[in-house]
Amino acid sequence: MALSTYDRQFRDLVERIGDVPWMTPTQGRRIWDHFLGARPLMALDIGTCYGTSAAYMAGAMRAIGEGRVVTVDSAQFDDRSEAKQWCEVLWERCGVRDLIETIRIPHSSYVWWLMEQVAGRSDKRGNCEPVYDFVYLDGAKSLTVDTAAVIFVEQLLRPGGWLLVDDLDWRHEDHPALIPTVQYPDDVSYRFSSAEIAMPHLRAVFDMVVKRHPSFGNFVEQDGAWGWAQKVSGDRKVVIIEEASLSSRLRRAIRVLRRRASSPSR
Ligand SMILES: C[S@@+](CC[C@H](N)C(=O)[O-])C[C@H]1O[C@@H](n2cnc3c(N)ncnc32)[C@H](O)[C@@H]1O
Repeated sequence: MALSTYDRQFRDLVERIGDVPWMTPTQGRRIWDHFLGARPLMALDIGTCYGTSAAYMAGAMRAIGEGRVVTVDSAQFDDRSEAKQWCEVLWERCGVRDLIETIRIPHSSYVWWLMEQVAGRSDKRGNCEPVYDFVYLDGAKSLTVDTAAVIFVEQLLRPGGWLLVDDLDWRHEDHPALIPTVQYPDDVSYRFSSAEIAMPHLRAVFDMVVKRHPSFGNFVEQDGAWGWAQKVSGDRKVVIIEEASLSSRLRRAIRVLRRRASSPSR
């Protein structure tokens, strides 16, 4: 059977990506088919690593003729790292370098960056101007990090856009070297409980955060590993801000000052 132009373009992309991890050609094909149907103009790739997920997204956009990918990762992939250079080489080889913007985060997490994006695009009523049509979440595999990420991603997704969560079945117990210790100042640290180690964190994020969020619907799960959710509602917020009278604001300020004066000094 003769291959269509899109099939030939996809096969060529797979050959150019070769054996670079982590996205497989089967997963890449799903992204490709989704992009051909949904035609996202802006995609966000959370977790760049060696750049294959960004390459599949941008490859589909190249075939369609429009769209851009923003890909974000920690500063371990800054300009000095080998992985950053491998990404550049891969994207050049795939002919998609110009469609990809890389963000390297010099602080704890992509969650902070997502929060900054939401803050920068919000009006004073808390309405965020959405920007992405597709978001692929393939980062920390952490309940805390990725729950917060989903809350911000939802605000950045355009109505009708899709969130795709990777690794619903990823467990720390299968990757003991990656079990984190949470470190606080003064030598205080916490280890993961056995339940946290056994539980797939992204499964909890998908089932208990994404599926229960009022904005998401049309859920699709694939192979127990991928979870799709569409942003089906994006109601604008109405916020009524009532200003207290000058006298009650003064009374409140006096109460705060009194409380401060009577509290023991540190
Ligand atoms: C599995 S890899 C991504 C693979 C890539 N999406 C692909 O398909 O080729 C996960 C990436 O998430 C990044 N990551 C994990 N936790 C992070 C965090 N808290 N902040 C920023 N990046 C993080 C890691 O540095 C790593 O490169």
